[in-house]
Parts: sequence; structure tokens; C-alpha cells
Amino acid sequence: MSFDLVFFGGTGDLTWRKLMPALFQAFRHGKLPTNGRILSVARDEMSDERYREWLKERFQEVDGSKRPSDDEFEQFAALLHYRRMDLSQPEHYQRLKSWLDERQADTVVLYLATSPHLFTQICEQLGAAGLNDARTRVVLEKPLGHDLASAQQINKVVRSVFSETQAFRIDHYLGKPAVQNLMALRFGNALFEPLWRRESIANIQITLAEGLGVGTRGAFYDETGALRDMIQNHALQLLTMIALEPPPTNDADAIRDEKLKVLRSLKPFTAATVARDVVRGQYRAGSNEGLPVAGYLDEAKVPADSQCETFVALRTEVQNWRWAGVPFYLRTGKRLSGRDAQIVINFRQVPHPIFPGTNQANRLVIKLQPEDGLELQLLAAKGGADGEKLVPVSLDLDFDKAFAANRVGAYERLLLDAIAGRLNLFVRSDEQEQAWRWVEPILDAWKADSSGPRPYTAGSWGPAAASALVARDGFAWAEEE
Ligand code: BG6
Repeated sequence: MSFDLVFFGGTGDLTWRKLMPALFQAFRHGKLPTNGRILSVARDEMSDERYREWLKERFQEVDGSKRPSDDEFEQFAALLHYRRMDLSQPEHYQRLKSWLDERQADTVVLYLATSPHLFTQICEQLGAAGLNDARTRVVLEKPLGHDLASAQQINKVVRSVFSETQAFRIDHYLGKPAVQNLMALRFGNALFEPLWRRESIANIQITLAEGLGVGTRGAFYDETGALRDMIQNHALQLLTMIALEPPPTNDADAIRDEKLKVLRSLKPFTAATVARDVVRGQYRAGSNEGLPVAGYLDEAKVPADSQCETFVALRTEVQNWRWAGVPFYLRTGKRLSGRDAQIVINFRQVPHPIFPGTNQANRLVIKLQPEDGLELQLLAAKGGADGEKLVPVSLDLDFDKAFAANRVGAYERLLLDAIAGRLNLFVRSDEQEQAWRWVEPILDAWKADSSGPRPYTAGSWGPAAASALVARDGFAWAEEE
């Protein structure tokens, strides 16, 4: 199969930090279809040769084992091309079309790795230039909009130029092996499904914690905040994968229909429930990996009086027969205790305890990162002199180790899927809009409440109010038990 892959924003951070290294890995693993060309377009004037040199320099910043040798880079670079393009100029799109028409590849993937402000303009121009025929796919990076209205506006333009099956909306969390494994866990095994419901599950906790601060992205982050950056997309996508009903098939729309139903079943927020069930925080000076770090307000390009949240914890429910009354706790933040993403399924206590002093319940921990694994916590009798006292034990699976040879990174997987036209791991416009619809009352309530985010010390697990939120239901975050 032949393909042409075009990166708009070809000299941008996303392209050289994430996309090119991921493509190189696909190339190194022999997974990239052989008859391909990669074209980067951006505003600077550069020859193909100069672009290849520039990218080679950038690759020096890529994590060690993922860096190409000189030989490998040379082979990979043979696929790379560069053209100057002013995205506001219709004739530049015509030039791009001529380049693509040179050989009529089977598939054309247009990846918009630009600022989202340009998405509608680029799509309109692509349409006007006839760059939207059936072999073309468009890939859109998050953030897709700033709120429901802006997301709808982008989708309207995208849909006027491309069909829904040509639109690949990226949420890179869906490309993580651990997230794909969620489907395997639930629907490849008969074991869990009968327990996957309110009768057996007490609560579910989704944590996406980062040790890093906002780094050099202060200006972007301050307009975005943790709710838009992580909850509206990554955390909600994980929630849908946990809560969805078994889809009739493994096809993209069968899965996405079920995910949409979950999003529509989420308990809507009101100003009163936002005040009660959502905690926002902002980090203050503290430490990260033993070293002192600045607070958010002292980060570059962050206004000194910023009310932007760097932490969110919230409680919600999925209002349907399977999940009625089961709290789903979502939590994310920058400068927390460390990089730790996991989903904890806390099962109910045994209905009638016969072992004295044992009040622990079973727990399934789905680890997303830094390790990718599964840990099932059980209780066992040691068989020692203390007789009937049960002790916690765990069945611990490390998928990184078990499947080391086959593991591919999130962007590698998603780029290969976009080239192959597999939509399963991409977000449909109705899902994305529903997610915005659900977070919007939180944004509105915060706008109307000048009290701002609660401070927390860098290196902690966020404001104490996040613990109180869970404690109110008689539970605790997994690390607090
Ligand atoms: C991105 C956010 O979508 O996800 C970043 O914009 C965040 O702020 C990143 O750091 C986290 O992704 P990962 O894969 O490192 O957990």
C-alpha cells in the first residue's frame, strides 16, 4: 500500500518531539508500509536536505534507545520531504495538491500538528483545493476547541469538507497499550464481566498524576487548565472504556456508540454540585524527585494572579442500571507526588465476614504508567500460627515485561492506524462534543466563583479537599489506605 503523510506544522514541537520519533520507531520496527513519503510543511524556506539535517539535530534530544543511528537516520530520511507553505495562501494548497497528484498514493494522511486556531482555516482551504477525496484522511490533535461552542464550530467545518470516517481525532491516551488492554480485559475474558457492575463494585478511581510542572508551556497551559487539558479528554475516555456496555463487535462505530452512551449517562453538574463534588487546586513551591521546585505562579509566562487550575479531583456517577450509585472519582494534576496513572476498581466487602479482623476488600489496579500492568489484590490465609487471620496478596502482571518485543508507543500506534484507516482508537465528533457538554457547567461555575483554586504543595497528592471528597462516601484514595 502506498501512502503520503503530510505534517502541517512540520517544524513544530509536536512534530519533532512526538510524531517523527514515533514514525521512526514504526520504520525501525518494519511496520511502516514501504511505499510511503512523509512531507513536512511549514512557513520557513528550507530544502529537503536542510530539513533532514534539522530533524537529525532535533533527534539528539530524543530519549536514548529511541534515537536512530546515523545509518538508520539516513534510511529514514530518504522518506522525508519539505515544502514551504503559508497556510493562508490558496495557491500553496494547489502546490501541495500537485505534489500529491504526482503519484496518486493509495492513502493520503493530512496531519494538522498546528495550533488548533488554524484547524478551520486549513480544512476550508483543503476543501477548496480539492484535497479531500476518498483516499484522504485528516488527523486533528487536541485541544479540539476550548468549550462546546468552539468544538462544534471546528467539527462543523471539518464535516463540511470531510466525512466522519475521514476524520481522525487523536486522544493519545487511547493509543497507550494499557488502554487497549482494557478492552481485552473486559471483553476477552469471561471472568470479570459478571462482576463489572454496581452489585460487586464499591467505587472506581481514575488517577492521572504527573510529577512535572507546566515547564515551558505556561502561556498555553494558563488558558487551558487541568480540566480542559486532561479531564475533558484523557480521563473521560478512560472512564468510558471502563463503563461501556459490551459492544456487539470490535468495529470503530460499535465501540464509539457505546462510549457515547456512557458520556450521555454521566450525572450532569449544577453550580451546587460543582461546589460540592469538584475540587480545583494550584501548586505552590515544593519538591519534585527530591529537588526544590517553583510554584505555578512563578512559572514562565504565567500571570502572577492566575486562577488557572493545575489539579482537579471530582466525583461523578454513570446513571444507568449497571452503575447506579457507584462513585467514579477522577483526579489529575501537575507537580503531584510523581508520574502515576492508574485505574483502581474497588470491589465491595464480603457480605458476611467470618474471618476476624479482616475488613479489606478485593481490588483490581489497572496500571497505565509508568508501568503497564494489572494487579489483582486478594486475601489469603498464611497457614501460620495466627490461624484465621487473612493477609493481602496480589497477582501482579507486568505487560511491559511480558510483551516487551511487541510494545509500541501511543503515537506510533495511532499513526499506523491513521495510515491503515482504523478508526477504533480515535474520537468521534459526537463523543467529543458530549464530553464538552458535560464539563461546561464546571467551567461556568468556576468563572462565577472568584475564590479560585486551592493551593497544594508541589510533590503532594493535591489539596486536602480531594481526600475529603472521597472520605465523605466512606472511601479513600488508594494511596491513602
Ligand atoms: C497532554 C497534555 O495531552 O498529555 C499534557 O496536554 C500532559 O499537559 C500529557 O502532560 C500527558 O501525557 P502522558 O502520555 O505523558 O501521560
